[in-house]
Amino acid sequence: MVYKANEPKIVGLTPDRQHSFYGRDIVSVKQFSRDDLGYIFGLADEMRGIVKRVGATDLLKGYVLANLFYEPSTRTASSFIAAMQRLGGAVIPIHGVQYSSVTKGESLPDTIRTLECYADVIVLRHPEVGASEVAARYANKPIISAGDGVGEHPTQGLLDLYTIQTELGHIDGLHVAMVGDLKNGRTVHSLSRLLRLYDTQLSFVSPNILRLPVEIKGELQAAGRPVFETEKVEQVIETADIVYVTRVQKERFADLGEYEAVKNYYEITPELMKLAKKSMALMHPLPRVGEIHYDVDADPRAAYFRQMENGMYIRMALLAAVLGKA
Ligand code: NCD
Repeated sequence: MVYKANEPKIVGLTPDRQHSFYGRDIVSVKQFSRDDLGYIFGLADEMRGIVKRVGATDLLKGYVLANLFYEPSTRTASSFIAAMQRLGGAVIPIHGVQYSSVTKGESLPDTIRTLECYADVIVLRHPEVGASEVAARYANKPIISAGDGVGEHPTQGLLDLYTIQTELGHIDGLHVAMVGDLKNGRTVHSLSRLLRLYDTQLSFVSPNILRLPVEIKGELQAAGRPVFETEKVEQVIETADIVYVTRVQKERFADLGEYEAVKNYYEITPELMKLAKKSMALMHPLPRVGEIHYDVDADPRAAYFRQMENGMYIRMALLAAVLGKA
């Protein structure tokens, strides 16, 4: 990972540990090595231990997070808030940008430069691909992307990979099948880029118009990962160790007629689950809008609620790491 030209973003501490994330932005999963991931997952385990034992700590007492969301969010926004609060820090929540100066025409760089006067770290969700990289160029404080349009969602990718590790105990050797809107689903983009670092077999299940972008497919193939594409979930359900389901991203369609044609393409039902391995883990970044039947929730292999809890531990780990307190 590369330090910024104007490093250190936070004065007073020297980033001298091998895995120091101190002062760094988190804008793409491409910045992580396997070693980095192991380090973050270890921190997340520690955060889980703290929360289970005592609920909170004062590790980030006196620190402030600005949570700036230009797109809707339930899990990502609230888990960042909970993460900061459980670490003893405070949050400036800006979730309805319609109530901020953005509606007066303020640019993203100006909004970022404003918030960094008050906060030590900024979490940004934005509809444009690359927005968090732009913000990071202007900011002297760390920027953590919470999703940029149809690009990436790095912290979700990390929590997804961490969930695979905690559900199955390892990542190498697994067959991971991703199902749904692979074109627009930024969580799929981040998770598949992370999985290229592991010895995994990857299957991509989608309607033809929602296939994984060729750029990402190329990256996976360049990393030596065989890529299997199909329209039929039945072709992978019996052999997959992880089935990662996503919703069709209605808000990304210019033509709603096209959305209507594919919106109900997949539904994971109890009948389909009967075909899957006993050890399989069923994941979903959520929200779901029909892709997983509610009757599947009681199946012990349904990992999506554990997955979202993991999100808080991963975000606690990341906040502590970029603020030099890990
Ligand atoms: C995802 C997102 O926002 O990309 N949600 C999330 O962060 N958990 C997935 C989605 O919206 O479908």
